[in-house]
Amino acid sequence: MKFEEAINNKLFKTISNCADEIGLDCYVIGGFVRDYFLKRESKDIDIVVVGSGIEMAKLVSKELKNTSNVKIFKTYGTAMLKYSNYEIEFVGARKESYSHNSRNPQVSEGTLEDDIKRRDFTINSLAISLNKKNYGKLIDLHNGLEDIKSKVIITPLNPQITFNDDPLRMLRAIRFASNLDFNINKDLLDVISNLNSRINIITKERIVEEINRILLSPKPSYGFSLLEKTGLLKIILPEISALKGIDEIEGQTHKDNFYHTLEVVDNISKETDNLWLRWAALLHDIGKVPTKKFKPKIGWTFHGHEFEGSKMVYRIFKGLKMPLNDKMKYVQKIVLMSSRPIVLAQENVTDSAIRRLIFDAGESVDDLITLCEADITTKNKERFKKYRQNFKIVRNKIIEVEERDNIRNFQPPINGKEIMETFDLKPCKSIGEIKEAIKEAILEGDIKNDYNAAYKLMLEEGKKLGLIANEKR
Ligand code: CTP
Repeated sequence: MKFEEAINNKLFKTISNCADEIGLDCYVIGGFVRDYFLKRESKDIDIVVVGSGIEMAKLVSKELKNTSNVKIFKTYGTAMLKYSNYEIEFVGARKESYSHNSRNPQVSEGTLEDDIKRRDFTINSLAISLNKKNYGKLIDLHNGLEDIKSKVIITPLNPQITFNDDPLRMLRAIRFASNLDFNINKDLLDVISNLNSRINIITKERIVEEINRILLSPKPSYGFSLLEKTGLLKIILPEISALKGIDEIEGQTHKDNFYHTLEVVDNISKETDNLWLRWAALLHDIGKVPTKKFKPKIGWTFHGHEFEGSKMVYRIFKGLKMPLNDKMKYVQKIVLMSSRPIVLAQENVTDSAIRRLIFDAGESVDDLITLCEADITTKNKERFKKYRQNFKIVRNKIIEVEERDNIRNFQPPINGKEIMETFDLKPCKSIGEIKEAIKEAILEGDIKNDYNAAYKLMLEEGKKLGLIANEKR
């Protein structure tokens, strides 16, 4: 929405009327104003009131009518309501002081100037007046508009104070830089480096929110390089930081897996906005640290790094208090299978190998290939072209085999119950053996993926095991 339109629309007009009715100065502030100048759409509107934000929210809700209930957070003196697609937060102007080890501010009322200077960055400190006397007037006390134009992240106060007030702001600085392609100058980075251990007082949930947003940047490597440079990465994701470095034994080196990983994440970000596929790219090589070995005559090996990596995914998610749900399993699966299609792309690929890949990857097979394509970081142009071409062949094969054999959501055409009934069996090992033989025969291409072929094979396999069938047909 254009600000000229926004400022004249019903929502802002109503807030303006309410502000005058209640007799309080009132401003739209922060991200909404920043995003307006950046020509980015924003659905979150922050309103600062020099007085009670809660009273204002109640009055606005009454006047606007079609709003959600007003949600009040008394300790923070804030109130929130939803209107149309917007989430509007009202807050009383504050002058806050934070005790060194606490995240909980002791809220005390302040002027607009107090409120503005305690905000995180100059680009987030712009306010626009909503009272009738100066409706639409920009208040820019810390040169925020210039900083938006010059694309820099700067704190309104001495950064020591700003970051000590809320250490999450160190991550926010890097997130804004990475999302918006803004600069953070060396001095500010030095302050972050000095204060980096203060991130430990922040809850994991808030940290993950920032990591996710860095991962969703157009070029996440920018944010992750800054995290590494400031020592924050070592604290919040030590497994990624540990990928850094090149060892040399007997004149043999391996690639720097940290920079390789960042390249892969950037590559995949050009192809997908799927946060979890980007996580898989970030974590695909983490198992290389614990599995790294140097073998004389062979060189550097990372045997079993995919399996080790998939186990580490669980530990990382758990450590960061991320939900251990299907998304985590999806990331684990992609990490575990991350080298499988590479082998296929190097050989003359058989149908049965493709069937096995589809069977094991299921719905994630296309995403897996997308990761493998992103994983090609060779600087040798010929080789790059060849690998890409090979993955094209693998993709086409997948489509071809899938159309014919329908393996992706493989359900065995004969289930355990039918095997038990056919041979009058109680639960036993033989049922599993027959099921496995049918699955193998389908994946190998020895029989078709259909009921009749599977039924016939079941009878043959039963016979081999000395079982007698009471044939239905
Ligand atoms: N803010 C702050 N320090 C924080 C978090 C927020 O000073 N740790 C201030 C900033 O002025 C920010 C405003 O509160 O603009 C609203 O915060 P938030 O909604 O988290 O961020 P936005 O700036 O709106 O940006 P985005 O929605 O893109 O995160």
